[in-house]
Amino acid sequence: MKKVIDILREKVTDGFVKAGYDEKYGMISVSNRPDLCQYQCNGAMAAAKEYKKAPFQIAGEVVEQLSSEAVFAQIEAVNPGFINITVSGEFLAEQAERMNVEERFGVALPEKQKTIVIDYGGANVAKPLHVGHLRPAIIGESVKRICRFMGDNVIGDVHLGDWGLQIGLIIQEVKTRQPELPYFQDDFAGEYPQEPPFTISDLEQIYPHASAYSKEHEDYLQAAQEITAKLQDGHSGYRALWQHILNVSIEDLKKNYDSLQVFFDLWKKESDAQPYIPEMVEKMKKDGIAYMSEGALVVDISEEGDKKELPPCLIVKSNGASLYATTDLATIVEREELFQPDQIIYLADKRQSLHFTQVFRTAKKAKIVRPEVELNFIGFGTMNGKDGKPFKTRDGGVLRLQSLCEQINAEVYKKMKDNREYSGDEAEAIAAKVGLAALKYGDLSNQASKDYIFDIERFASFEGNTGPYILYTIVRIKSLIGRYEEEGGVLSSDNTLLPPVSASETKVYLTLSRFADMMEAAYAELAPNKICQYIFELSESVNHFYHETKVLTEEDEERKNSYIKLLRLVQRVLECCIGMLGFEAPDKM
Ligand code: ARG
Repeated sequence: MKKVIDILREKVTDGFVKAGYDEKYGMISVSNRPDLCQYQCNGAMAAAKEYKKAPFQIAGEVVEQLSSEAVFAQIEAVNPGFINITVSGEFLAEQAERMNVEERFGVALPEKQKTIVIDYGGANVAKPLHVGHLRPAIIGESVKRICRFMGDNVIGDVHLGDWGLQIGLIIQEVKTRQPELPYFQDDFAGEYPQEPPFTISDLEQIYPHASAYSKEHEDYLQAAQEITAKLQDGHSGYRALWQHILNVSIEDLKKNYDSLQVFFDLWKKESDAQPYIPEMVEKMKKDGIAYMSEGALVVDISEEGDKKELPPCLIVKSNGASLYATTDLATIVEREELFQPDQIIYLADKRQSLHFTQVFRTAKKAKIVRPEVELNFIGFGTMNGKDGKPFKTRDGGVLRLQSLCEQINAEVYKKMKDNREYSGDEAEAIAAKVGLAALKYGDLSNQASKDYIFDIERFASFEGNTGPYILYTIVRIKSLIGRYEEEGGVLSSDNTLLPPVSASETKVYLTLSRFADMMEAAYAELAPNKICQYIFELSESVNHFYHETKVLTEEDEERKNSYIKLLRLVQRVLECCIGMLGFEAPDKM
């Protein structure tokens, strides 16, 4: 289905050509003066230079060619040479009618369907999920859904951190507490126990303790480092214990991600990439890409045109250990082998930007990926508290994700309490849905790279640019349509969308008609915030329309049916959009 802006461009281009000017001047943009018109063409200004004529005169000649076109309600030349365009209600209604029956509301699929891996979990095994893992999960899930909507084959990978010192620290602490366990007996030859020697709450307590203790006690830290090295070398007892840590921890992580409605297709871990390292490193050496520098193996990544000098990518440390970058590179080898993706998208804190530049450049230079593979890094900013500092608990500790969700649900519940007619359980289920919308929308409505202030009260508000406001809009439409049906109205495909009769209704149609444009931009820039901006605008316009229009008491049946059909379309578009943001609307709230 053709987009409005493309239809207009074709018409106006035609006008330029018929009036004797080059077709390139028929460019259209959304008006920056919506009070005057909906779209505009500034081509006459540019044409004036080439044709040495007054722009106003050119604009006038073009307009003359077009004034009888049914698409335009109004098209006029204004000083100094703009062409102002208002499209006709008939055209908008036809366009909406088409949108209503087309798959994806008429958004055309890109020419090529891509295979994309999105690496967006990044949680670390055995450490409780904290707010630092909220942003990649929320933004990544949305990017995944956007790409899927646009027809790509998308594989979401959690890429757990399970291979670092944190594991050594935990094992060291378990050893301190329960030295008698078989995992620590060098001469143990039997089967290790099936049951883990700890629960998730033990683990949650063990890691922070071990981490803090190691900072004060050098020998403890060293022991943990040794354990880490032995584990990586294949020590059987440590491996068995590590497996327990993984099992216990992953079960808990799944629960957490589930409650955020974040679903990974792959539960891969850093450790899965380790077997690919030796061969990869050998090849880098053989090809002369990697070289020794101060005892370490490194790859130069500087490129011509760099504004500042970038440090080389460290592949193997002087003590023989591999690094974060090595694991990411080996993971690319693994992904190439398993999926041959066209694109890999990473989500991580924007402070990891240098790391990803190093990894991407090394991967290309060492030909670990095919040259055409797109590697993208979406670096996100920090979630701050109202004091502008990184979000912490009241006592300054790291806030657990679960308690953050509880806080936001409680805030929503409080807001609902005043005017609700439903029982406790139901109210709680609704609060959880609305709370998730508050949380996700609060995050996604910002540009990912920006820091933002996490303000529970504002996010949970039912008014303003918030998730609950969007849900409220949907719920309102649903209940209105419910009443319409109770009163005998039928949502039938025989009902027709009539041209709008008021400014507020026109605005609804117009906003709907921009959906495809918005989606293309959100997809091209991998920017969920564009969807948020759009649904806020659509919600505002539909609420305004609804406020001004007596829908159910409209006496003209045909018009009433058209109103309802329009509202249903808005509802569907809103629901589709929040689906891409990763939350859903309740039936009432
Ligand atoms: N686990 C890492 C962290 O907590 C984030 C991983 C990001 N993804 C990646 N492929 N490096 O910092």
